[in-house]
Amino acid sequence: MTAVGIDAIEIWTGKLALDLAETFAPAKDDNPEKYTKGLGLKASSFPDTYEDIVTMGANAAKRLMDRNGLEPDDIGRIDVATESAFDNSKPVSTYIAGCLEDVYDGDFHHANKGERKFACVAGTQSIDDAYNWIKAGRNRGRAALVIATDTALYARGDPGEATQGAGAVAMLVDENPSVVELSTHQGYGSADETDFLKPNQQFPSVDGKRSVQVYLARMREALEDFESVAGRTHPDDYAYIPFHTPFPGMVRKAALLGFRHMTRGTDIEDGLTDEIGRQPREADFEDWDAYEEAIREYMDALKETDTYDTWYGRTVDPTLTLSRQVGNWYTGSVHVARASALKTAAETGRALAGEKLLVGSYGSGAQAEIHSETVADGWREEVEALDIDEQLARRYDLSFEEYGRVHDAHNHEKERELEEFTVPSGEFVFTGWGRMNERT
Ligand code: CAA
Repeated sequence: MTAVGIDAIEIWTGKLALDLAETFAPAKDDNPEKYTKGLGLKASSFPDTYEDIVTMGANAAKRLMDRNGLEPDDIGRIDVATESAFDNSKPVSTYIAGCLEDVYDGDFHHANKGERKFACVAGTQSIDDAYNWIKAGRNRGRAALVIATDTALYARGDPGEATQGAGAVAMLVDENPSVVELSTHQGYGSADETDFLKPNQQFPSVDGKRSVQVYLARMREALEDFESVAGRTHPDDYAYIPFHTPFPGMVRKAALLGFRHMTRGTDIEDGLTDEIGRQPREADFEDWDAYEEAIREYMDALKETDTYDTWYGRTVDPTLTLSRQVGNWYTGSVHVARASALKTAAETGRALAGEKLLVGSYGSGAQAEIHSETVADGWREEVEALDIDEQLARRYDLSFEEYGRVHDAHNHEKERELEEFTVPSGEFVFTGWGRMNERT
């Protein structure tokens, strides 16, 4: 059976940065540690005034295509995942294809284009669609381009404001992939929820505290569903566990629950009982509140153990390095987490080919998907080609007053006369409605 998976990846961050400890916390009269330690974030990426979901997605895709020597004819499908779409009819992929066609000789006339929406899980769903398309033999030897692009903004003063972010991740899904091979092992947890929604409005209506509970509940269901296909998971089965990261503190909570779930009844649990000095008290799994209440004390003790700390440091923490510096990218977030883990492995000289990742994607509304992937032979070269560190270093640091001036402008205002903070160079830029996406 031919392997199918992610063959190439490229990341484009918004060009502006809002430092949470230095700039945001003082302006809000908050303790900076609420953001750096509590949420686990250092900064948010913001789009400059000439950037939007189209330009960020097109710029990521252009770099990916150039680096891999691809022409439009090599691509039979372009799917964009976003929850920041500005057009209720045309998919964002047509705008991005239009940009790319301006700079390549060929075109995407025979490519199937679409837009996927299910909040942040849509990026992974688009990868699943591409996988199925290739596995069904409908791709005629061509690859799929999947682009997850978002400006994740909250209303000023909303508790979610500290978790904002903006950027795009472009991924090529193909046969014999270089980065990761996808498996057929998948599990879902899905339910109609209203804790986070954006019905025809620029900024989401969010019940933040509830959204955290919904995330954990759906992830747990997805893990159980995954295990019904793949068998029991063990924490040492996976080199890394990249999860959807609205902010690192969220993943910290999910990792603790996941670890508890994976270790129950294992030799690790026996060791933990010695370390903690008591057995966990399990509750009825059908009732989330009772379960949480019953395990709270044990979990508080568990997170202080060396066993958990070592596992978390090795398996989860490396997935959060980029997220700490860029905030939430919605659809791109779990793919940034994967890239972050692979980048850490490359930097520390770790051999990873053949190792497994357990990937947890989540979209409000709400649905979680857990699937496994196997790292492919070409992962290191692909990850070392990313220039995300340079992009992060080049970001312009906004003052709080500048941040206020640009915040509401993002979402395709018809005309933009706002100042630019950085100078675009050799990239797609937004120049106003109907004059979009000219290349400088
Ligand atoms: N030092 C250290 N830690 C501190 C601190 C200090 N001085 N002050 C506060 N903290 C800790 C708190 O104890 C808390 O940690 P725990 O949750 O582990 O207890 C953390 O910092 C955050 O503090 P609060 O809970 O008081 O923060 P808040 O209520 O102002 O906001 C939030 C938190 C509700 C999650 C908010 O950020 C939010 O609404 N975010 C948007 C929604 C979101 O991201 N939800 C996540 C699940 S939904 C999803 O994943 C989809 C998606 O992408 C949006």
